[in-house]
Amino acid sequence: MATLEMKDLVVSVEGNTILHGINLIVNGGETHAIMGPNGTGKSTLAQIIMGHPKYKIESGEILLDGVNINDMPVDERSRKGIFLAMQNPVEVPGVTNFDFVKTAVTSRLPKEKHLRIGKFILEFEDSAKELKMGSGLAHRFLNQGFSGGEKKRNEILQMKLLKPSIAFLDEIDSGLDVDALRIVGENVTSMKSPQLGMVLITHYQRLLDYIVPDFVHIMIKGNIVKTGGKELIEKIDSSGYDWLKEELGISDFEEKKVQYSLGTCATKSIK
Ligand SMILES: Nc1ncnc2c1ncn2[C@@H]1O[C@H](COP(=O)(O)OP(=O)(O)OP(=O)(O)O)[C@@H](O)[C@H]1O
Ligand SMILES: [Mg+2]
Repeated sequence: MATLEMKDLVVSVEGNTILHGINLIVNGGETHAIMGPNGTGKSTLAQIIMGHPKYKIESGEILLDGVNINDMPVDERSRKGIFLAMQNPVEVPGVTNFDFVKTAVTSRLPKEKHLRIGKFILEFEDSAKELKMGSGLAHRFLNQGFSGGEKKRNEILQMKLLKPSIAFLDEIDSGLDVDALRIVGENVTSMKSPQLGMVLITHYQRLLDYIVPDFVHIMIKGNIVKTGGKELIEKIDSSGYDWLKEELGISDFEEKKVQYSLGTCATKSIK
């Protein structure tokens, strides 16, 4: 059972600090949901966990089973069992979908083991069927020309075949029609096990009706400001985030800041 711990994680992108001290522990068997307004740092968190080189850890630690992985390259993180289903999956012309997943799965095998290709083909086909994906998919270039919903299903196909121990799913529900949402939800739920710790990033309750989380975290402006259970999802779905901002004094602070900067500009222009 894997444990991923984020300890006082401060993260910047191109000189701008986006995450201001994230503390979160994800254990195998647990499903966490992270919700929060646009631009609040949810994808930044997912990217830094996977090791995207554009994002920089200013301070704090990422620990996998107690070991610091702050400087571990992306491929090594993947070999250790971390997986990210991206918010915007990348198109890779020239590399077929099948070759991509086969290479990823092969590179995660221990040195003495070889991929049993026949068995893998069957597993690929079965997984594609379970996700109700078209049969020509294996030979198409990775994500090229895929619809938004197809790209999202393809991320889950990769997850099914890679069998991670820690998975971040970043807005896996965006672009899915109602049937696809159910299919993705059922497939992800069927992967739940004590061997898998999951973090679902989403804006909507509808995904969490299918994949029920154990913990719900609200992120605002790069901080996890509240953690609770399923009741938080309903509250956000019906009332948004304003009640929480008010409770925490966040909107007041913003207004004061805007007034202050407007005041400063006005003073400057008068002078
Ligand atoms: N290169 C960059 N330079 C400056 N700011 C950036 C850069 N890349 C991202 N950001 C900012 O970081 C903030 C957090 O972005 P992030 O994608 O993590 O938000 P999010 O919570 O996932 O939002 P959404 O719900 O819209 O997906 C945003 O304000 C974004 O504009
Ligand atoms: Mg995002």
